[in-house]
Order: sequence, then C-alpha cells, then structure tokens
Amino acid sequence: MWEMRNIEWHAVPQLLKGIGAAALDIANGHSRKDCWLASWIPLIRERANGVPVLELGCGQGHDTLMMTSAGLKVIAIDSSSAMLERARCKAPLARFYDRDLRCDFPVQRAGVVVASLSLHYFGWNETMEIVGRIKQVLVPGGVLLCRLNSTRDVNFGAKGHREIERNYYMVHGQTKRFFDQGDVQRLFSDWEPLSLVEKVTHRFGMPKTAWEIAVGVNQ
Ligand SMILES: C[S@@+](CC[C@H](N)C(=O)[O-])C[C@H]1O[C@@H](n2cnc3c(N)ncnc32)[C@H](O)[C@@H]1O
Repeated sequence: MWEMRNIEWHAVPQLLKGIGAAALDIANGHSRKDCWLASWIPLIRERANGVPVLELGCGQGHDTLMMTSAGLKVIAIDSSSAMLERARCKAPLARFYDRDLRCDFPVQRAGVVVASLSLHYFGWNETMEIVGRIKQVLVPGGVLLCRLNSTRDVNFGAKGHREIERNYYMVHGQTKRFFDQGDVQRLFSDWEPLSLVEKVTHRFGMPKTAWEIAVGVNQ
C-alpha cells in the first residue's frame, strides 16, 4: 500500500499538467514526434558533401540519429555529460564531445552546422560571437540549420519572467533568450537567407513556438 508521506507532493501539479497536455494532444491529433530535420536531410547531404556535420547542443541525440541514419558523418557537442551518455547510446555512429559551445569547436571545418534549441542561453553579444564562430567553421557553400525560441513561446518562458536584457530572461533559474523576427534578421544579417519560418512543435507537452532557420555562407 502507498505511504502518503512518500509522495512527492510538490511534483503533483507538474504531473497533472503533463497528463492534461498529453490528453489534449491526443484529443487534438497532435503528434509529439519532432522530425523537423527530416525535410532538411537532402540539403544537408548536398552541402556537407563528405565534410562532417557539426551539431551544437545535441541533447539526447534525436537529430544526431536522424543524420547518422541518413549516412552523414556527425560530430556533436553538448555540455551535459548526462545528455551525452544518452546520445552516445542512441546514435553510436556519431562522434561526441563534452564541450561548451562557447569554447573552440572540436573541428576546423564543417559542411553544415545544426543547432536545435541550443543557441538561446546567452546574452546578445555572446550569441553574436557564437554565430560568428559558426560562420568561420563552415566551408564555402556551407549551411547553418537552427531552431531558436520565438518571442511567442509563452509556454516556455517568453512571458512573466525577470528580464535581464531585451528578450532575455531568467526562467526557473536558467537564462533563456527569445527571438523576434528582427532579432533573427540582425543575428544573420551577413548570411545568405535560405529559409525563415515560425513553427509550433508539440514534442514538449505544451505547444512550443520556435523559428526554424536555414542560412548559408556564400560560395
Ligand atoms: C533544449 S536542449 C535541445 C537538445 C537537442 N538539440 C534537441 O533539439 O533535442 C538544449 C541542449 O543544449 C545543451 N547546452 C546548453 N548550454 C550549452 C552550452 N553552453 N554548450 C553546449 N551545450 C549546451 C543542453 O545540455 C541541452 O542538451
């Protein structure tokens, strides 16, 4: 029999929220599958052209697996050893590095850089600096594919939190940036714009709004 004192009561609201969100997803026919990268695989293959893909903030290796399954050579970094452990199990064909993306990348050249929801933790100047280094590592004709939190991402912190800088908040003890269209255009003003679309994913329980971006380095 359950002992009432062993129940973690503080987790109950979050649990109920999760159950409610899952029920809503089923009722609305939303899938929690998040295969955003699938439609980009042909472009990645073309632009990588044998040069490795560099993935920044690979998390549990969801996108890593999609790319290695497509026969791409992937070098992935993350600063969380727990995430890397999972990613290594999920996508054993990739090479993983325990590395902060603010430090030097583990490759000199990449044909494509993929960064899904991993470039939003930093102040504006630091974000610009990281994007500058991404550009430097890409070969001519290379592409950056990334997803950035949108300022419409209200379910995940774009509203109601302490602002540190414009569109940059302290969300449950973690810094988090949200981008409006102007921010995205400023960030990539010296790149070749290929695609910029605001999309909603249902992968995280509640709808999450993010920019899906493809930008290139001129040949
Ligand atoms: C929201 S998750 C996204 C994971 C994965 N790209 C995906 O879309 O499923 C962000 C990831 O970035 C990693 N991360 C956060 N700050 C980082 C940093 N400074 N350097 C490297 N990785 C970082 C986190 O550990 C986490 O795995």
